[in-house]
Amino acid sequence: MGVQPKHISAITINRATPADAETIVAIRSQAWLSIYPRSSLGITKADILRHIEGEHGQRLAATIAHWRNRITEEDGVHSVTFVARLSNQVVGFVGPRHHDGKQRIGTLYVSESVRGQGIGTQLLQRAIAWFNQLEDIYLYVVSYNDRAIAFYERYGFKKTEAGIFIDPFVKKRSGIDLPKIEMVLSAKIKD
Ligand SMILES: CC(C)(COP(=O)(O)OP(=O)(O)OC[C@H]1O[C@@H](n2cnc3c(N)ncnc32)[C@H](O)[C@@H]1OP(=O)(O)O)[C@@H](O)C(=O)NCCC(=O)NCCS
Repeated sequence: MGVQPKHISAITINRATPADAETIVAIRSQAWLSIYPRSSLGITKADILRHIEGEHGQRLAATIAHWRNRITEEDGVHSVTFVARLSNQVVGFVGPRHHDGKQRIGTLYVSESVRGQGIGTQLLQRAIAWFNQLEDIYLYVVSYNDRAIAFYERYGFKKTEAGIFIDPFVKKRSGIDLPKIEMVLSAKIKD
């Protein structure tokens, strides 16, 4: 049977549709604003807001359009976005993909109001099942996002040798030094 998460029975997990883009971006933005500010590193809430929205709020529509296009164009083979729905409302999403020759979980977010109820577990399991089980699965996570790191460790991910590095995309886009680490779920050994 394995470890059973605290399932909410009404949760369904399916491929995202382009109409889900706005909610996906809202869930991600809300998570970034609550988790990424860190005064000891000089990362403020205003910095994160600027990263999300741009100086004049101009980025948000572009980001939603980006996600809409991405979901429309995903072939389900090289990349895919799965959403968790609770009573038809999107409450979380995960984006497994093949990138630079590696299997990577690009994003995993659950709405704050429904965290800790097994939805993240179901999304992670769906992403892992989508991959080739005989190859490693990688992801990046903010180095001080302790709850997410603990969550991934619970499901067998381990920190890689990469150590802490500054996310180059966030640095380029907003000048923020956001420290990240890499984690890996090692491939199942072939019998
Ligand atoms: C990490 C995350 C996806 C887990 O989803 P979830 O639905 O809360 O996870 P589950 O209910 O299946 O598992 C709960 C476990 O997740 C961990 N967890 C991480 N962040 C949590 C949060 N804010 N609230 C509750 N649990 C959290 C805990 O270890 C928790 O274990 P516990 O119930 O023994 O305390 C979700 O909490 C989230 O979206 N966090 C913010 C965004 C984020 O950090 N994403 C990862 C970026 S790489």
